[in-house]
Amino acid sequence: MPRSEQESTEGVPVEDSIVPNASQPVEFTPMDTTGVREQRQPARESGLRGKVVVITGAVAGIGRATALRFAEEGARIAAWDVSTDTATQLESAIKRTGGESHFQIVDVTDASAVESAAAAVVEQWGRIDVLINNAGIVRDAQLVKWNGGSPESIMSEEIWDSVIGVNLKGVFLVTRAVVPHMIKGGGGVILCAASVVGLLGNFGQTNYVASKAGVIGMTRTWARELGKYKIRVNAVAPGFIATDMVRAMPEKVLEAMVARTPLGRPGKPEEVANTYFWLASDQASFIHGAVISVDGGVVIGT
Ligand SMILES: NC(=O)c1ccc[n+]([C@@H]2O[C@H](COP(=O)([O-])OP(=O)(O)OC[C@H]3O[C@@H](n4cnc5c(N)ncnc54)[C@H](O)[C@@H]3O)[C@@H](O)[C@H]2O)c1
Repeated sequence: MPRSEQESTEGVPVEDSIVPNASQPVEFTPMDTTGVREQRQPARESGLRGKVVVITGAVAGIGRATALRFAEEGARIAAWDVSTDTATQLESAIKRTGGESHFQIVDVTDASAVESAAAAVVEQWGRIDVLINNAGIVRDAQLVKWNGGSPESIMSEEIWDSVIGVNLKGVFLVTRAVVPHMIKGGGGVILCAASVVGLLGNFGQTNYVASKAGVIGMTRTWARELGKYKIRVNAVAPGFIATDMVRAMPEKVLEAMVARTPLGRPGKPEEVANTYFWLASDQASFIHGAVISVDGGVVIGT
């Protein structure tokens, strides 16, 4: 019986199991390293010129900085967002870089809107090379806030569902819609917005932390499933980055966040954008299933 028809002990076909390319013999030829320096691309070559990049939550904060970073290098930007507030400014800013963009109103929690948006990108540019799952929201509350012998407030199901809906289910829906196009196109790169709190936990953020820990789990799972299609999958875990998402927080909380950051300052959206850019580039061609912290050292712990 050919190996692909065999069953693993759990009843999972070998081809679909966690063993990549289990049906094919592994080819290994000892490497001749003499020409390595000559074969290496110059550091400035990103390989991203002309590539089609889908960015969710693209009109603000980290998403906006990321759209501009890729556009500056000649990538074509499919910008998706529920908000149209600054979409026109983003498109003009991309135009000024000499880049090309296409904005679509897409709510990442709406499966059919996401499927149609992915199809529209392929219709326009023929392919999707990079997906950046950036859209995210916060709605904080303590699980149970106890006061004077009884609960003063609890985290409601409504705010649990809304944060899980955008930050976790949204990433699932968008990735599920884009992956078939990447497989047909011969490969791609998927990058997901996690957070340092997905690694450490955080007071008042049961819903947000669960969503970001889930994103890390999905990233590692997709790295196992999609590597054989030449699709690299990684997550970025930012710390405290100065965007609208955190500016709305009370001054005291912001000061505490800086105090927890060994570099002693908030990060800039552009610093996260640079990380997405590098991870999507050919310079990161063997980085797969990783969670890269961009947090000024918060992940070290206190
Ligand atoms: N700012 C930080 O300190 C920080 C830290 C860790 C992780 N992150 C993550 O980085 C990502 C970007 O954060 P940010 O600070 O730039 O946020 P932001 O609030 O500035 O921007 C988020 C964007 O997502 C869009 N969005 C929200 N819901 C959406 C939906 N349902 N469908 C499509 N778009 C939607 C918003 O309209 C907005 O344009 C998020 O996933 C966030 O969780 C941010």
